[in-house]
Amino acid sequence: MKKVYLDNAATTPVSESVIKEITDKLSNYYGNASTLYEIGRSSKSILEDVRIKLANSINAKENEIIFTSGGTESDNSAIIKTAETRQNYGKHIITTKIEHEAVLKPMKYLENHGYEVSYLDVDSNGNISIEDLKNNLREDTILVSIMMGNNEVGVQNPIHEIGELLKDHQAYFHTDAVQAYGLKDIDVNRDNIDLLSTSAHKINGPKMTGFLFKRETIKLNSFVLGGDQEQKRRAGTENIPSIAGFGVAVNSLTKDEKEKRITKYNSFREKILTELNNNNIEYEINGPKTEPRLEHILNIWIKGIPTDLLQMNLDLDGVAIAGGSACTAGSLEPSHVLSAMFPTNPNRVNESIRISFGSFTSEDDIDLFIERIVKVYNRLNKNRRD
Ligand SMILES: Cc1ncc(COP(=O)(O)O)c(C=O)c1O
Repeated sequence: MKKVYLDNAATTPVSESVIKEITDKLSNYYGNASTLYEIGRSSKSILEDVRIKLANSINAKENEIIFTSGGTESDNSAIIKTAETRQNYGKHIITTKIEHEAVLKPMKYLENHGYEVSYLDVDSNGNISIEDLKNNLREDTILVSIMMGNNEVGVQNPIHEIGELLKDHQAYFHTDAVQAYGLKDIDVNRDNIDLLSTSAHKINGPKMTGFLFKRETIKLNSFVLGGDQEQKRRAGTENIPSIAGFGVAVNSLTKDEKEKRITKYNSFREKILTELNNNNIEYEINGPKTEPRLEHILNIWIKGIPTDLLQMNLDLDGVAIAGGSACTAGSLEPSHVLSAMFPTNPNRVNESIRISFGSFTSEDDIDLFIERIVKVYNRLNKNRRD
C-alpha cells in the first residue's frame, strides 16, 4: 500500500540535496570550528557561509544569527533570557493562547518565578486583536511573544502591525517563525522584530537544528552554558554537517520556489475541500478561510467523527495526518489552540484533524488521501448511525 504523508507541519522528509551535503560534511569536515588549525578553520568557514545565507533569508546581519538545536531551544532562550536580563525594567510579558508549547511552557516557568504573563484571546478564526494587544501593553511589559503563523490552524498574525506598535515601547518583540519560515517573506527590519525562532526540519532540513535571530543591539546571556561558541551566545560544539544541510535547505527556498509551493498547496486544499463536498462529508474549516494564512496547513472539523478514531483508521490505510495537539509526539490531548478558538464547542475540538502539505506532497498523494478518507468516513459514519 502506498503511504501518504500529510503531516509536514510536524516534520518534513529530508531532501536529497540536504542528505548529500550532510553526508559529505560528516565524512570530510570533522574539525571543531573553534580550533585554530586548518582542519578546524575549514569547519568554521562552512559555519560562517551558512550564517550569511540564513541572515540574508530574513534580512538580518550575520552577527545576528545564533545556531541552536531548533525551534524549541530558540523559543526557550529568547523568552527565558529576555525575562532574566530585563527584570529590572519590569516583569510583565504578553503572548497568545495559541502559541506552541515551546513558548507556553517557558511562560509557565516564568509565572512560577514571579513574572506575570497575559495570554491574548483569539476569535473563532484564530485571530488576535491588535486593540487587545494595545490594552494589555503596560509600562512594565518587557516582552511580547507572538507567533508568525500557527502550526495547528495556519492562522497568520499581523506581524508588521505588532512590530509598529512596539517600535516605541521598551518590550522586545519575539516571534516564533518555525512554521512560516520557508513559505513567507520575512524581513526583521521591515517588521521591527527583535528575536525570531526557526527550525530546519520543517523545511526539509535535519532535526535538532535551527537558529535564533537576535538583534545586535539586544544583550542576552547564553541559555546553554559552557564553552564560548557562537561569540559566547550559545555554548556547545557546532554541528557542522546539520548546519551545512540547513544551509542547503534554505538555498532551495527562492522566491519563485516559495510561490510555486503556495500555488501547489492552495490547489491541494481546493481539491480536498471540493471532494469532501462532492462526497457529502460534513465539515467546517478551522482557521482562516482566506489569505493571509499558512498555505501548507488545512485544519478541518469532520463532524461526528472523533479525531482519534479517524486518525487511527486513516493510519491503518497508510495515511499520516495529525489530530490533537500537533507535533507533541503521539499526543491525543485536546488541542489548546482549538479550545481557545471554540471554547463552547468541545465536539469541534475533539473531531478535528490537521492535514499539512510539503514540497514532497504530490497530486497522487492528495488523490489517495481523498479516496481513503471518503472510504473511512463512510464506514465510521455508518457505524455511528447504526
Ligand atoms: C510553531 C512551532 N514552534 C516551535 C516548534 C518546535 O520546533 P523544534 O521541533 O525544532 O524544536 C514547532 C514544532 O513543531 C512549531 O511548530
